[in-house]
Amino acid sequence: MIKLREQLIVHDKNHKKFFSPFQKLKQPIDVIFAIFMKNIEKMIQPKSHILVIFGASGDLTKRKLIPALYDLFQQKRLPEQFAVLGVSRTDLSDTDFRKRVSEFLPKNEDVSDFINMLYYEAVNTGNATDFPRLKIRLKTLRQELNIDDNYIFYLSTPPLLYEVIPASLAQVGLNKSDAGFRRLIVEKPFGTDLESALDLNKKLLLYFDEDQLYRIDHYLGKETVQNLLVTRFANAFLEPLWNRNYIHHVEITSAESLGVEKRGGYYDKSGALRDMVQNHLLQLVGLIAMEPPVTIGADAIRDEILKVFKSLSHITEENVTDHVIRGQYTESKIRGNQVKGYREEEGVPADSRTETFVAMKFFIDNWRWGGVPFYIRTGKHLPTRATEVVIRFKQSPHHLFHTNENVTSSENLLVIRIQPDEGIMMKFGMKVPGAGFSVQNVGMDFHYSDLTHDRLPTAYERLLLDCMQGDATLYSRGDAVEAAWEFVQPIINAWKNDDSIPVYGYPAGTWGPEVAQNMIEGDGIEWRYPCKNLTASDDYCEL
Ligand code: BG6
Repeated sequence: MIKLREQLIVHDKNHKKFFSPFQKLKQPIDVIFAIFMKNIEKMIQPKSHILVIFGASGDLTKRKLIPALYDLFQQKRLPEQFAVLGVSRTDLSDTDFRKRVSEFLPKNEDVSDFINMLYYEAVNTGNATDFPRLKIRLKTLRQELNIDDNYIFYLSTPPLLYEVIPASLAQVGLNKSDAGFRRLIVEKPFGTDLESALDLNKKLLLYFDEDQLYRIDHYLGKETVQNLLVTRFANAFLEPLWNRNYIHHVEITSAESLGVEKRGGYYDKSGALRDMVQNHLLQLVGLIAMEPPVTIGADAIRDEILKVFKSLSHITEENVTDHVIRGQYTESKIRGNQVKGYREEEGVPADSRTETFVAMKFFIDNWRWGGVPFYIRTGKHLPTRATEVVIRFKQSPHHLFHTNENVTSSENLLVIRIQPDEGIMMKFGMKVPGAGFSVQNVGMDFHYSDLTHDRLPTAYERLLLDCMQGDATLYSRGDAVEAAWEFVQPIINAWKNDDSIPVYGYPAGTWGPEVAQNMIEGDGIEWRYPCKNLTASDDYCEL
C-alpha cells in the first residue's frame, strides 16, 4: 500500500503533496489517502450479518472460533454492524457467555469492544420447538443493532445434529431468503463412511443449496496449503517438471507428536484414516495433483480437485494389504517420560483395533500422473509434529559424478513444509570445492518468516472471513467429499471384514510400524523423516 501511495503522489510548485489522479481536488495527500483506504476497506468488508454458532459452549468455539473472530475484529475485517449469537443447551446469560469466552482471549488487551458483540441464547438444538424463539431473538438483535437480514449458521455441534439443525432452521424459514444471505458452515466429519456421507449431503440439500453450504476442512485454511497453488501456478519453471516424466514419486507426511489426549472416545470410532486421510491429506493430494484451474474461483478450483479425486486409482478390498498399512501406538518412554499405549487411553477399549497410524501407496490414473506413486502417512505419537509434501524428482539419466556419500546421483527434492517452520526447500547436488568432481547434496530454502514479520493468520480466521465474503474456494464441495469417501471405503470395508489384516504396534515416539518404513520403492530411496526445522540435516535434527 505504501508503494501505491508513493506512485500516486506528485508534487506541486509549493512542494505540497497531492495524489495525481485527484489533483483537481486540491486536497492534502493524507486526506485523500484516508478516503481511498476507507473505500478499499469497504469493498473488502463483509456485509453486515449475524453469525450464529451452534455448540457455543463447546471446545471448538472457545479455542478456535472466538480467538479467530477476535483477530478479525482487531484487523477491522468484521462488518460494522455485526453480532455473534452463541447457541447451546447450557443456560447462560449474555454476560456469562462473554465471561466464559474471554478466558480464551489475550489477558493483557482490552477486549471489551469485541466482547460486547457477543450474545447468547439457550436453545435445545435437538428440539425443533425451540427454534421459533431463536428466530425472534435474531430479529430483535437485528433491529436493536441495525443489522441487515443476513445470517451465517455455524454447526460446531456433535455430528448427530447436522441433520436436525438445518431441518429446524428450515421449519422457521431461516434457511432461504430473497432479502439477504443464509450460509451454513459444517464442521467435519462429513459422514463416517460413503453411505452416511451421501445421506448427509442429501439431507443438507433438502434445506440449503450447495452454494449456501460451507464444509470446513481447516487444512485448506492454512496459509502454506494455499501456497501450494501459488508455488505451482505462479512459477513457470516448475510446471513443465510437474508430471510423470520428471517426478519419481510424491510423499506426504503429517506427523503428530501428541497421542489422542482426551479424545479417545471420539477417536476410537474414527481412526487415522477417517480423521486425517479422507479429508485433510486427500485435499493436499488434490492441490498437488490438480490441473491449472481456469480462474482462481471457487468452482474452477474445486472442479479440478474433484477431477483428481475421480482419477484416484481405487484400492480394492482384496488388495488393501498391498497398499495400506495400519498401526497403533503402544506404551513407551519418550524423552524419559512414560507414555501410555493407545489401548490404555481414556475412552478406548482394551481390545481396540482402531489405527492411530496409516501409511498408503496409490496412483492417480490420468495423463499427468500415470505410474507415479503417491505415498501418504499420518500418525499420532510420532517423533515430532510436522506436515510436509515431498516431491522427489527422477535421477539424472547418466551418472557422471559420485556424491560424497558414494552414491551415483544427487537427491533432487522439493520439500513444501506445511507446518511448523513453514517454507520450501529444494535439495540438489553441488560440487564439493577442491580436486575432482565430488557432489554434495545441499539445500536452498525459503522460510515464510523471511517474507513477513506478521504472524500467519490462523486457518479459522481465513475461513471465517471467506465465508463472510461468500467465497467458498477453500471449503470442500459435496461431490469432492463423496469422491474422497468412495476412495477410502474399500479400505474401511477390508479392515472391518477381515480380521487377519494386521494392526501393527509401534512404540509411541517412533516413526510407526517398521513395515511402513520400507514402503517406498526405489533403490536406496526411503521416506524423508522430517525434523522440527525444515532444513535440519542428518547431523542435526531437533524434534
Ligand atoms: C483434526 C483431527 O481434524 O486435525 C485431529 O481431528 C488432528 O485428530 C488435527 O490432530 C490436526 O490438525 P493440525 O492443524 O494440528 O495439523
